Amino acid sequence: MLQKAILAERPQDWLVAHGGEMPVQFFCPPALEAKHRAFREGFPGEVTFAVKSNPAEAVLTQLHAGGMAGFDVASPAEIALMQRLAPGAHLHYHNPVRSPGEIALAKAAGATSWAVDRPGELEKLLAADLPREAEFAVRLDLPVEGAAYAFSAKFGAGPAEAAKLMRRAASAGRRVSLTFHVGTQCDEPSAWAAYLETAAELMEETGIRLASVNVGGGFPSARSGEPAELAPIFETISSFAPRFPGARLVCEPGRGLVADAFAYAVRIKSLDRGDAILNDGIYGGLSEFVTLGLSAFEVVAGDGRELSESHQPHRLWGPTCDSLDRLPGEPLLPADVEEGDWLLFSAMGAYLYGVNTAFNGYGAWDEVSVSSLG
Ligand SMILES: Cc1ncc(COP(=O)(O)O)c(C=O)c1O
Repeated sequence: MLQKAILAERPQDWLVAHGGEMPVQFFCPPALEAKHRAFREGFPGEVTFAVKSNPAEAVLTQLHAGGMAGFDVASPAEIALMQRLAPGAHLHYHNPVRSPGEIALAKAAGATSWAVDRPGELEKLLAADLPREAEFAVRLDLPVEGAAYAFSAKFGAGPAEAAKLMRRAASAGRRVSLTFHVGTQCDEPSAWAAYLETAAELMEETGIRLASVNVGGGFPSARSGEPAELAPIFETISSFAPRFPGARLVCEPGRGLVADAFAYAVRIKSLDRGDAILNDGIYGGLSEFVTLGLSAFEVVAGDGRELSESHQPHRLWGPTCDSLDRLPGEPLLPADVEEGDWLLFSAMGAYLYGVNTAFNGYGAWDEVSVSSLG
């Protein structure tokens, strides 16, 4: 299990001194603390965390101990996890589709906010007789640009449908709020502006006073190798605050809060004529690379030697027997790279835990806490 006890100063040092057969997940608690502080200081409202992005206990307990009082949960298992690790925290059940059994369980757990994006699911919630304080968070969907991939194909209601859902919930005497998700790894402040403009128009048009406006996740990480620019997004959101008098602003980042606190190292176990077979691939910790492309990486020589400045394209493969288990593109590796050297990927703290499989018997990793990722 991921420990907070620091085992090394930098991932590179640990790899050379102790690296073995397994991929290595490096967690940097000070980096998580710094990012949490950046959100607390820059975001003009309550900062919560999307548990799905990284349900590691060391992460969740650190955020809770650092003052985080609310979490976005998407399933009974995530609800039970947060009840155990952060008793008393607000649970925002923002998966907009639930079975009656899941609703009953979350009601008993005291979930305080419930996302909803379609009439049938709203009627299920109304029939569940949730407590008066529960917020019905209508999830809005707009066609915006700027994310690595949009979330709108599955969840969300267009403005006309959202207005109907708001009116129905309000006429049933429920507290209404609005929520949205611009799509993950979004570095365009204009995406938040488009949603907030429509949210303000919906509030004006329906005359319904909103309990809160949740601007979702989607905040970028430094996966390109460039620092994530959060300040322009926070400024854009802040500029809309006066449009929502009496409403709380809330965000629920996953990737943007946690990714940059982790790096992930995979080892070259075979190298032959430009084909590098790694000890992890798309069925393990590198599954996101298929949709988002490779995260920025450096090559660390297993024996600590200096690597050549000249580079050559390589095909990178995972360890399973499946020929789909290949990383996209033909990334450049140092010309003198060898078996036993490492690829150290940055910004790897989101969507690894819980997403890796044990296909072909792979999918396990070592976990090491470090004081710095630099
Ligand atoms: C409702 C909701 N909120 C927040 C998030 C976190 O998104 P991200 O990791 O892009 O910040 C997700 C991700 O799926 C989500 O579904």
